[in-house]
Amino acid sequence: MTGRWAIVVHGGAKSIDPAQAEANRCGCLAAVAAGQAVLEAGGAAVDAVEAAIRVLEDDPTFNAGRGSVRNAAGDVEMDAALMDGQTLDLGGVAAIRGVRHPITVARLMLREDPVLLVADGARTFAAERGAERCDPPAPMLPGNGAGRGGAGRDTVGCVALDLQGHLAAGTSTGGLEGCAVGRVGDSPLPGCGLYAEDGVGAVSFSGDGEAIARTMLASRVVRGLEGGDPDSAVERALVRLVSLGADGGAIALDGAGRIGWNHNSRNFAVGYVVSGAGDARAFLAKAEEREIGQDAG
Ligand code: GLY
Repeated sequence: MTGRWAIVVHGGAKSIDPAQAEANRCGCLAAVAAGQAVLEAGGAAVDAVEAAIRVLEDDPTFNAGRGSVRNAAGDVEMDAALMDGQTLDLGGVAAIRGVRHPITVARLMLREDPVLLVADGARTFAAERGAERCDPPAPMLPGNGAGRGGAGRDTVGCVALDLQGHLAAGTSTGGLEGCAVGRVGDSPLPGCGLYAEDGVGAVSFSGDGEAIARTMLASRVVRGLEGGDPDSAVERALVRLVSLGADGGAIALDGAGRIGWNHNSRNFAVGYVVSGAGDARAFLAKAEEREIGQDAG
Protein backbone atom coordinates (compact mmCIF):
# COMPACT_ATOMS: atom_id res chain seq x y z
CA MET A 1 0.00 0.00 0.00
CA THR A 2 1.31 3.43 -0.94
CA GLY A 3 -1.58 5.27 0.71
CA ARG A 4 -1.46 7.49 -2.34
CA TRP A 5 -3.21 7.40 -5.69
CA ALA A 6 -2.43 9.32 -8.86
CA ILE A 7 -3.75 9.56 -12.39
CA VAL A 8 -2.43 11.26 -15.54
CA VAL A 9 -4.21 11.37 -18.90
CA HIS A 10 -3.19 12.70 -22.29
CA GLY A 11 -5.21 13.71 -25.32
CA GLY A 12 -2.40 13.56 -27.81
CA ALA A 13 0.84 15.15 -28.94
CA LYS A 14 -0.20 17.56 -31.69
CA SER A 15 -0.73 21.19 -32.60
CA ILE A 16 -3.86 22.54 -30.95
CA ASP A 17 -5.80 25.27 -32.72
CA PRO A 18 -6.76 28.00 -30.20
CA ALA A 19 -10.42 27.28 -31.01
CA GLN A 20 -9.89 23.72 -29.73
CA ALA A 21 -7.94 24.65 -26.59
CA GLU A 22 -10.90 24.61 -24.20
CA ALA A 23 -12.26 21.35 -25.62
CA ASN A 24 -8.86 19.71 -25.07
CA ARG A 25 -8.58 20.97 -21.49
CA CYS A 26 -12.16 20.04 -20.59
CA GLY A 27 -11.85 16.63 -22.22
CA CYS A 28 -8.70 15.84 -20.23
CA LEU A 29 -10.28 17.02 -16.98
CA ALA A 30 -13.41 14.93 -17.59
CA ALA A 31 -11.25 11.88 -18.19
CA VAL A 32 -9.21 12.56 -15.04
CA ALA A 33 -12.45 12.87 -13.03
CA ALA A 34 -13.69 9.49 -14.27
CA GLY A 35 -10.43 7.79 -13.26
CA GLN A 36 -10.22 9.70 -9.99
CA ALA A 37 -13.68 8.44 -8.97
CA VAL A 38 -12.44 4.85 -9.35
CA LEU A 39 -9.21 5.46 -7.42
CA GLU A 40 -10.85 7.42 -4.59
CA ALA A 41 -13.26 4.54 -4.08
CA GLY A 42 -10.29 2.19 -3.66
CA GLY A 43 -10.63 0.75 -7.17
CA ALA A 44 -7.90 -0.78 -9.28
CA ALA A 45 -5.53 1.22 -11.47
CA VAL A 46 -6.54 -0.81 -14.55
CA ASP A 47 -10.19 0.12 -13.97
CA ALA A 48 -9.28 3.79 -13.52
CA VAL A 49 -7.31 3.79 -16.77
CA GLU A 50 -10.18 2.14 -18.65
CA ALA A 51 -12.71 4.60 -17.20
CA ALA A 52 -10.60 7.62 -18.14
CA ILE A 53 -9.90 6.42 -21.68
CA ARG A 54 -13.58 5.61 -22.30
CA VAL A 55 -14.32 9.30 -21.69
CA LEU A 56 -11.64 10.35 -24.19
CA GLU A 57 -12.92 7.80 -26.74
CA ASP A 58 -16.40 9.33 -26.54
CA ASP A 59 -15.08 12.86 -27.05
CA PRO A 60 -14.70 13.81 -30.75
CA THR A 61 -11.98 16.27 -29.78
CA PHE A 62 -9.55 13.37 -29.66
CA ASN A 63 -8.31 10.89 -32.25
CA ALA A 64 -9.66 7.75 -30.58
CA GLY A 65 -13.03 6.02 -30.54
CA ARG A 66 -15.68 8.46 -31.78
CA GLY A 67 -13.14 11.04 -32.98
CA SER A 68 -10.97 8.57 -34.91
CA VAL A 69 -9.50 9.68 -38.21
CA ARG A 70 -9.92 7.62 -41.38
CA ASN A 71 -7.39 5.52 -43.25
CA ALA A 72 -6.61 5.60 -47.00
CA ALA A 73 -9.76 3.61 -47.76
CA GLY A 74 -11.93 6.01 -45.74
CA ASP A 75 -12.44 3.50 -42.93
CA VAL A 76 -11.85 3.76 -39.21
CA GLU A 77 -9.43 1.22 -37.75
CA MET A 78 -8.47 1.65 -34.11
CA ASP A 79 -5.71 0.35 -31.82
CA ALA A 80 -5.83 0.16 -28.02
CA ALA A 81 -4.02 -1.58 -25.18
CA LEU A 82 -4.14 -1.85 -21.42
CA MET A 83 -1.35 -3.15 -19.18
CA ASP A 84 -1.59 -4.22 -15.54
CA GLY A 85 1.62 -3.45 -13.66
CA GLN A 86 0.83 -5.94 -10.89
CA THR A 87 0.56 -9.04 -13.10
CA LEU A 88 2.19 -7.75 -16.32
CA ASP A 89 -1.00 -8.87 -18.05
CA LEU A 90 -1.53 -7.07 -21.33
CA GLY A 91 -4.62 -6.81 -23.50
CA GLY A 92 -4.38 -5.25 -26.92
CA VAL A 93 -6.41 -4.86 -30.09
CA ALA A 94 -5.28 -3.44 -33.40
CA ALA A 95 -6.98 -2.35 -36.63
CA ILE A 96 -10.32 -3.07 -34.96
CA ARG A 97 -13.48 -1.70 -36.56
CA GLY A 98 -17.03 -1.17 -35.43
CA VAL A 99 -16.64 -0.92 -31.66
CA ARG A 100 -17.39 2.12 -29.52
CA HIS A 101 -14.68 1.54 -26.91
CA PRO A 102 -11.51 -0.20 -28.10
CA ILE A 103 -10.03 0.24 -24.60
CA THR A 104 -12.83 -1.89 -23.16
CA VAL A 105 -12.10 -4.63 -25.69
CA ALA A 106 -8.46 -4.39 -24.56
CA ARG A 107 -9.70 -4.66 -20.94
CA LEU A 108 -11.64 -7.81 -21.89
CA MET A 109 -8.41 -9.19 -23.40
CA LEU A 110 -6.38 -8.41 -20.27
CA ARG A 111 -6.70 -11.80 -18.56
CA GLU A 112 -6.66 -13.79 -21.81
CA ASP A 113 -3.58 -15.62 -23.03
CA PRO A 114 -2.99 -13.72 -26.31
CA VAL A 115 -1.66 -10.22 -25.79
CA LEU A 116 -2.86 -8.81 -29.11
CA LEU A 117 -5.69 -9.55 -31.53
CA VAL A 118 -5.98 -7.73 -34.84
CA ALA A 119 -8.64 -6.80 -37.39
CA ASP A 120 -11.37 -9.46 -37.82
CA GLY A 121 -9.98 -11.52 -34.94
CA ALA A 122 -10.28 -8.54 -32.61
CA ARG A 123 -13.76 -7.72 -33.85
CA THR A 124 -14.95 -11.31 -33.44
CA PHE A 125 -13.55 -11.40 -29.90
CA ALA A 126 -15.29 -8.09 -29.12
CA ALA A 127 -18.61 -9.43 -30.44
CA GLU A 128 -18.29 -12.71 -28.51
CA ARG A 129 -17.61 -10.78 -25.29
CA GLY A 130 -20.51 -8.40 -25.84
CA ALA A 131 -18.48 -5.22 -26.40
CA GLU A 132 -20.58 -2.27 -27.48
CA ARG A 133 -20.72 -1.89 -31.25
CA CYS A 134 -20.53 1.36 -33.13
CA ASP A 135 -21.98 0.98 -36.63
CA PRO A 136 -21.45 2.71 -38.92
CA PRO A 137 -17.86 3.42 -37.79
CA ALA A 138 -17.02 6.68 -36.12
CA PRO A 139 -18.19 9.58 -38.27
CA MET A 140 -15.70 12.05 -39.69
CA LEU A 141 -16.65 15.03 -37.59
CA PRO A 142 -15.67 18.52 -38.66
CA GLY A 143 -12.37 19.46 -37.13
CA ASN A 144 -11.00 15.96 -36.70
CA GLY A 145 -7.41 14.92 -37.26
CA ALA A 146 -5.18 17.11 -39.38
CA GLY A 147 -8.22 19.24 -40.16
CA ARG A 148 -8.49 20.38 -36.54
CA GLY A 149 -4.96 21.69 -36.55
CA GLY A 150 -3.59 18.48 -35.12
CA ALA A 151 -1.03 16.25 -36.77
CA GLY A 152 -3.71 13.60 -37.37
CA ARG A 153 -1.71 11.01 -35.46
CA ASP A 154 -2.46 11.91 -31.88
CA THR A 155 -3.45 9.22 -29.44
CA VAL A 156 -5.09 9.23 -26.02
CA GLY A 157 -3.60 7.57 -22.98
CA CYS A 158 -3.61 7.22 -19.24
CA VAL A 159 -1.40 5.99 -16.41
CA ALA A 160 -2.59 5.41 -12.85
CA LEU A 161 -1.42 4.30 -9.42
CA ASP A 162 -4.01 2.89 -7.03
CA LEU A 163 -4.14 2.85 -3.24
CA GLN A 164 -2.83 -0.73 -3.24
CA GLY A 165 0.33 0.46 -5.00
CA HIS A 166 -0.53 -1.09 -8.36
CA LEU A 167 0.24 0.69 -11.63
CA ALA A 168 -1.51 0.52 -15.00
CA ALA A 169 -1.10 2.11 -18.42
CA GLY A 170 -3.40 2.40 -21.41
CA THR A 171 -3.52 3.82 -24.94
CA SER A 172 -6.20 4.20 -27.59
CA THR A 173 -5.95 5.69 -31.07
CA GLY A 174 -7.60 6.09 -34.42
CA GLY A 175 -4.10 5.91 -35.87
CA LEU A 176 -2.72 8.01 -38.65
CA GLU A 177 -5.03 9.85 -41.01
CA GLY A 178 -4.85 8.44 -44.55
CA CYS A 179 -2.60 5.54 -43.49
CA ALA A 180 -2.52 2.17 -45.23
CA VAL A 181 -5.33 -0.25 -44.41
CA GLY A 182 -4.16 -2.52 -41.59
CA ARG A 183 -1.38 -0.18 -40.47
CA VAL A 184 -0.63 -0.54 -36.75
CA GLY A 185 1.40 2.04 -34.84
CA ASP A 186 3.04 1.98 -31.42
CA SER A 187 -0.11 2.25 -29.32
CA PRO A 188 -0.89 -1.45 -28.71
CA LEU A 189 2.78 -2.54 -28.55
CA PRO A 190 4.21 -3.09 -25.06
CA GLY A 191 7.50 -1.32 -24.49
CA CYS A 192 6.69 1.04 -27.37
CA GLY A 193 3.39 2.90 -26.85
CA LEU A 194 2.88 1.82 -23.26
CA TYR A 195 4.26 -0.16 -20.33
CA ALA A 196 3.46 -0.69 -16.65
CA GLU A 197 5.29 -2.56 -13.92
CA ASP A 198 4.61 -2.23 -10.21
CA GLY A 199 7.39 -0.63 -8.21
CA VAL A 200 8.99 0.72 -11.38
CA GLY A 201 6.57 2.83 -13.37
CA ALA A 202 3.87 3.27 -15.97
CA VAL A 203 4.10 5.18 -19.24
CA SER A 204 1.87 6.02 -22.21
CA PHE A 205 3.00 7.63 -25.47
CA SER A 206 1.49 9.65 -28.29
CA GLY A 207 3.16 10.67 -31.51
CA ASP A 208 4.88 9.23 -34.55
CA GLY A 209 4.01 5.57 -34.13
CA GLU A 210 6.65 4.16 -36.45
CA ALA A 211 9.47 6.07 -34.74
CA ILE A 212 8.17 5.22 -31.26
CA ALA A 213 7.96 1.53 -32.18
CA ARG A 214 11.44 1.46 -33.74
CA THR A 215 13.01 2.95 -30.64
CA MET A 216 10.84 1.09 -28.09
CA LEU A 217 10.39 4.40 -26.32
CA ALA A 218 8.20 3.23 -23.43
CA SER A 219 10.90 0.76 -22.40
CA ARG A 220 13.44 3.60 -22.48
CA VAL A 221 11.30 5.65 -20.11
CA VAL A 222 10.92 2.67 -17.77
CA ARG A 223 14.67 2.14 -17.77
CA GLY A 224 15.10 5.82 -16.95
CA LEU A 225 12.65 5.56 -14.08
CA GLU A 226 14.80 2.92 -12.39
CA GLY A 227 17.48 5.48 -11.64
CA GLY A 228 15.81 8.85 -11.96
CA ASP A 229 12.75 11.02 -11.67
CA PRO A 230 9.83 10.66 -14.12
CA ASP A 231 10.24 14.06 -15.81
CA SER A 232 13.90 13.35 -16.61
CA ALA A 233 13.12 9.80 -17.77
CA VAL A 234 10.56 11.13 -20.28
CA GLU A 235 12.85 13.93 -21.39
CA ARG A 236 15.72 11.55 -22.07
CA ALA A 237 13.52 9.19 -24.12
CA LEU A 238 12.23 12.08 -26.22
CA VAL A 239 15.81 12.96 -27.22
CA ARG A 240 15.85 9.67 -29.17
CA LEU A 241 12.64 10.66 -30.94
CA VAL A 242 14.07 14.04 -31.86
CA SER A 243 17.15 12.34 -33.31
CA LEU A 244 14.86 10.52 -35.76
CA GLY A 245 13.14 13.75 -36.75
CA ALA A 246 9.88 12.54 -35.19
CA ASP A 247 7.63 14.06 -32.60
CA GLY A 248 5.53 12.88 -29.71
CA GLY A 249 4.87 13.10 -26.02
CA ALA A 250 4.64 10.84 -23.01
CA ILE A 251 3.11 10.71 -19.55
CA ALA A 252 4.67 8.65 -16.77
CA LEU A 253 4.28 7.70 -13.12
CA ASP A 254 6.89 6.05 -10.95
CA GLY A 255 6.11 3.50 -8.25
CA ALA A 256 5.69 6.25 -5.66
CA GLY A 257 3.17 8.14 -7.77
CA ARG A 258 5.51 10.92 -8.94
CA ILE A 259 4.41 12.35 -12.29
CA GLY A 260 6.52 13.06 -15.35
CA TRP A 261 5.50 14.29 -18.79
CA ASN A 262 6.92 16.12 -21.75
CA HIS A 263 6.66 16.42 -25.52
CA ASN A 264 8.49 17.76 -28.55
CA SER A 265 5.28 18.34 -30.50
CA ARG A 266 3.93 21.89 -30.32
CA ASN A 267 1.21 20.87 -27.88
CA PHE A 268 0.41 17.94 -25.65
CA ALA A 269 -2.97 17.88 -23.88
CA VAL A 270 -2.40 16.52 -20.37
CA GLY A 271 -4.46 16.38 -17.18
CA TYR A 272 -3.61 14.93 -13.79
CA VAL A 273 -4.45 14.76 -10.13
CA VAL A 274 -2.68 13.21 -7.16
CA SER A 275 -4.37 12.36 -3.86
CA GLY A 276 -3.89 15.06 -1.26
CA ALA A 277 -2.38 17.54 -3.74
CA GLY A 278 -5.32 19.73 -4.68
CA ASP A 279 -7.61 19.85 -7.69
CA ALA A 280 -6.99 18.28 -11.07
CA ARG A 281 -5.04 20.43 -13.55
CA ALA A 282 -4.91 20.42 -17.34
CA PHE A 283 -2.24 21.81 -19.65
CA LEU A 284 -1.74 22.05 -23.39
CA ALA A 285 2.06 22.27 -23.21
CA LYS A 286 4.80 21.59 -20.66
CA ALA A 287 5.74 25.26 -20.83
CA GLU A 288 2.33 26.18 -19.32
CA GLU A 289 3.00 24.01 -16.28
CA ARG A 290 6.48 25.48 -15.88
CA GLU A 291 5.11 29.00 -16.13
CA ILE A 292 2.86 28.54 -13.14
CA GLY A 293 5.50 26.60 -11.25
CA GLN A 294 3.24 23.59 -10.85
CA ASP A 295 4.84 20.77 -8.91
CA ALA A 296 3.51 17.69 -10.65
CA GLY A 297 5.04 15.27 -8.20
N1 GLY B 1 0.88 7.02 -31.96
C1 GLY B 1 -0.24 6.51 -32.62
C2 GLY B 1 0.03 5.99 -33.96
O1 GLY B 1 1.03 6.36 -34.58
O2 GLY B 1 -0.75 5.18 -34.43
